[in-house]
Amino acid sequence: MLNKENLLILAPLSEITTLSFRIMAREFGADLTLVPLVSSYAIVNKNQKTLDMLIEGKKESKPRAVQIFGNDKEVIKRAVRIIDELSIYDIIDLNAGCPSSKIVNSGSGGALLKDLPKLREILRAIRENTKSKVSVKIRLGFSKNDLTNIIKAVDDFVDMITIHGRTIKQSFSGNNDWQSIFQAKALTDKIIIGSGDIRTKEDYLKVKDKVNGVMIGRAALSNPGIFSEIKFNKPISKSRALLRLTELEKDFLNLKKLSLFMVAGMNNSKRIKREITKIKDYDTLVNYLTFLAKEMNPE
Ligand SMILES: Cc1cc2nc3c(=O)[nH]c(=O)nc-3n(C[C@H](O)[C@H](O)[C@H](O)COP(=O)(O)O)c2cc1C
Repeated sequence: MLNKENLLILAPLSEITTLSFRIMAREFGADLTLVPLVSSYAIVNKNQKTLDMLIEGKKESKPRAVQIFGNDKEVIKRAVRIIDELSIYDIIDLNAGCPSSKIVNSGSGGALLKDLPKLREILRAIRENTKSKVSVKIRLGFSKNDLTNIIKAVDDFVDMITIHGRTIKQSFSGNNDWQSIFQAKALTDKIIIGSGDIRTKEDYLKVKDKVNGVMIGRAALSNPGIFSEIKFNKPISKSRALLRLTELEKDFLNLKKLSLFMVAGMNNSKRIKREITKIKDYDTLVNYLTFLAKEMNPE
C-alpha cells in the first residue's frame, strides 16, 4: 500500500489540515495525508461533527489515514471498531506526541511517552481491532531522549512510526534532532518517517536516504507546492495553489485561515493579510483571493 522509500506525507496539523488542504496536497504530490487528531471519546460518543469529519475523508484518494488520540484502551478499542465499520481508512495512526497541555493533562498524546506499558496496551488494542495498517506518531521522549525504549515498546504493534525530533517538553523550540531519527531507523524494520523543520527541497535531500519518508507540516502551509517541487521537480506558483484552495475549500473560516498562511512571504503580505482579515463573508473572500491570484500571475 505504501512504498518503503521516499514517502512524502503532509503532517497532520490539528484544525488546519482540513479536507480541502489535504486533497490539494495529494494533487501536488503528497503520498499520504492524515485526518488530524480525532478524539476516541468523541467517536464512541457519536459526536456528529467528529463522525462527519471521518466520513468526509472518503473524498480523499487512497490510501487514507486517520489519526486518533485517547488515554483509555477500552475507549480506543471501541473507536477503532467504529472506524473499521466505515471502511474508509487504510491506516489508523495513534497520536503519542502532542504537547498541548489540554491533551497531555488528560493522559493522551505526548503523555503516553511517560507510560510505555500503557502506550503498548493501547497500540495492542488498535492492532487487535482493525484490519487497517497501524501507525504511531511519537517524539524523542517526554522530557529527555528515550527513543530506544519507545521504539522497543511500539514495535510489535505497528507498521509505521513517525518521529518528530523533539521532546514533548521542548514543544517546538530548539532544532529538530534528525541524528536521533536516523539512529532509530537501525532499531526496527518498520517504516520510519521523520518529521520536523523540512522547509525546502534541499532540507529534504539531506535526510531522504536515512529514513523511509518525511512529513512536511508548517512549510506546506505557505508552499503546498513543496510536494510537487520534491517529487516532480516542478514548483507550483502561489497563485495556482491559492486558486485551487479557493475552489476546494467551501468553509469561510477555513478558507480565511488557510489563505492567511498561504500568502506569507509574498510581496506586500502584511497588507494582503490585513485585507483578508477584514473580509466578513465567503463570496467576498473568494473574489478577493481570485483577484489576488490573477494579479500575481496574469495570463
Ligand atoms: C499548529 C500545529 C498543529 C499540529 N497538530 C498536530 C496534530 O494534530 N497531530 C500530530 O501528530 N502532530 C501535530 N503537529 C505536529 C506536526 O505534525 C509536525 O510533526 C511538526 O509540526 C513538525 O513538522 P514541521 O516542522 O514540518 O511543521 C502540529 C504542529 C503544529 C505547528
